[in-house]
Amino acid sequence: MAGTDQYHEPVEELSDEVRDMARMFASLVEEADAINWYNQRIHVSKDPEVKALMAHAQKEEFEHFAIDLEYLTRKMPQWRAVLKEILFKDGDILENAEKAEEIIEND
Ligand SMILES: [Fe+2]
Repeated sequence: MAGTDQYHEPVEELSDEVRDMARMFASLVEEADAINWYNQRIHVSKDPEVKALMAHAQKEEFEHFAIDLEYLTRKMPQWRAVLKEILFKDGDILENAEKAEEIIEND
């Protein structure tokens, strides 16, 4: 599954940097899947010990996801600018997204 599935364009036309970014994008998706799967396991298990173990594992996936996202957004400043307007902000998510859109349109 991992292999070359992350490429959408001929791999020989991609730079080493873009290939590494593709690897990190694949990892980001895998970390999000892991968070989702642990979430489901935590919710269906009837055993408190199993729930605690899965919750512990999920916390590590939160960190892995954040690391991958940070790496990728350091490579893509416009994406970073959008995230700065939307993430960790109170208020209406869509209104914050509109502000983000204005920022990148004027960039
Ligand atoms: Fe992970």
